[in-house]
Amino acid sequence: MLKDNESRSAVGKFIVIEGLDGSGKGTQIALLEKYIKEKGGQVYVTAEPTVSSTGGMIRDALGGLVQRDAYELSALFLADRIFHNVNPHNGIRKYIDSGIDVICDRYYYSSFAYQGIDADLDWVMQMNLGCSDILRPDMCIYLDVDTDLCDKRISENRFDREIYENNEAQKRIRKRFFEVFDKLGDTQNIRIVNAARSVEEVSEDIIKLFEELKNNN
Ligand code: TYD
Repeated sequence: MLKDNESRSAVGKFIVIEGLDGSGKGTQIALLEKYIKEKGGQVYVTAEPTVSSTGGMIRDALGGLVQRDAYELSALFLADRIFHNVNPHNGIRKYIDSGIDVICDRYYYSSFAYQGIDADLDWVMQMNLGCSDILRPDMCIYLDVDTDLCDKRISENRFDREIYENNEAQKRIRKRFFEVFDKLGDTQNIRIVNAARSVEEVSEDIIKLFEELKNNN
């Protein structure tokens, strides 16, 4: 029979990267992926909303093409997340169970911070945390930048803005993220990284956190 640590070492780690729009998640995820691969590790990078048909409905709402109530949007994100976990083709569970690390760009913390403002936060949390199909990440790394810097980065990189991509909304969402992290307390492994520094400095911190997680088997 396998000892406890042997059985668990066969399972991949599930890491979520969170942050406001323009916090640098994409750049940092690519650097972490490169690091893991260069070390000979296996990693699967994914994102929410997904490219499923539900993800398409979500993107239409985010782009302002279709108007959705906050509860409706929360439920769409929830359905998309369940699909993201369990679908047998490229679901998160499949990779974790085969020993491959998964890095996910956004997860239920975004639902709490974005939808948990207009929809009841406890309801959104319960729907996600109470669903056994939805895996709890091994670590959530929150890339923290102030909203002015995000706004500047969004202006430099985008032509169109999604419904949440304005400074007022981003301020409320950032505050909400911290309230949510407080509320979650020790039930989740959440790490805050100051992402207002150089790409290299931020990446170094993320790699340290990744190594800590891997060595904590
Ligand atoms: P997108 O442009 O796909 O990616 P990003 O801005 O992260 O590079 O935008 C995703 C948007 O979806 C972003 O504004 C946050 C929002 N979102 C929610 O509101 N709730 C959620 O549960 C998730 C996963 C994302």
